[in-house]
Amino acid sequence: MSPQMAEVMQVINRYAPQGFVPKAGLILGSGLSSLADQITNPVSIPYQAIPGLQAGGVAGHASLLVMGYLNNVPIVCLRGRLHLYEGVSYESIRILVRIVRRLGASAFIITCAAGSMRPEVGPGDLMMINDHINFHPGNPLVGPNDETIGPRFVSMEDAYDPMLQELMQGAANRIGIPLSRGVYISTLGPSFETPAEIRAYRQWGADAVGMSVVPEVIIARHSGMRVACVAAITNAAAGLSKEKISHEGTLHFGEIAARKLIKLIPEFMKDMNNVLV
Ligand code: HPA
Repeated sequence: MSPQMAEVMQVINRYAPQGFVPKAGLILGSGLSSLADQITNPVSIPYQAIPGLQAGGVAGHASLLVMGYLNNVPIVCLRGRLHLYEGVSYESIRILVRIVRRLGASAFIITCAAGSMRPEVGPGDLMMINDHINFHPGNPLVGPNDETIGPRFVSMEDAYDPMLQELMQGAANRIGIPLSRGVYISTLGPSFETPAEIRAYRQWGADAVGMSVVPEVIIARHSGMRVACVAAITNAAAGLSKEKISHEGTLHFGEIAARKLIKLIPEFMKDMNNVLV
């Protein structure tokens, strides 16, 4: 372990309950933090307490790493995502995801808000991500490689774990929540896209667009965690609807999608707990 990560884990372990080993990490996208309210026996660490982390985030809204139980499954939840558009570094995102792995999680479950490029998937719907296009500037693994975490060159085939996708689909079917699947393209933001950009991304094969996810997936895969991702569709992407995109609109439909995610993720966790060792 690097000296920096050792220092980080010293702080985390000071807070962590004795013998606590999470099955999964869970990252909550904008508007989805109510899922964290379902966590029982929570132990929270403010991001500010984690060495080397640029906290970012919206003023007055605490970003917390929460250790606890979701549907009786031990998890570590990242409540408050770091976005590159806030000016935070890849380094901060690396620290957060690697904490999850170091605590012992073998899966990383990602939620996010996204715009849909598919006419049949609209605001308030859920889309499970099954592949991505990295259109962020750079790659979070650039720099010296820490071989104790993972290999220099990481395969991104099956980055979105086929088995976890099947479990997620099964959970959605069981509780009657429609779940489409698609490819996510990441943009830096914070501006939304132009209609011309969206036309281009559609031709590249993307189905959803957003400003996060991809760095987290690359870091999680590098460290050997299985990944699953569900996007809360908050809007039709630019130029695809008469409705103009606004932050307020994304919050409104984010809430509708969040109500579904709040049921889906705990249901999925139960299955995941039975399958993953
Ligand atoms: N574009 C980028 N990010 C987003 C969008 C979008 O349309 N909706 C929610 N996050």
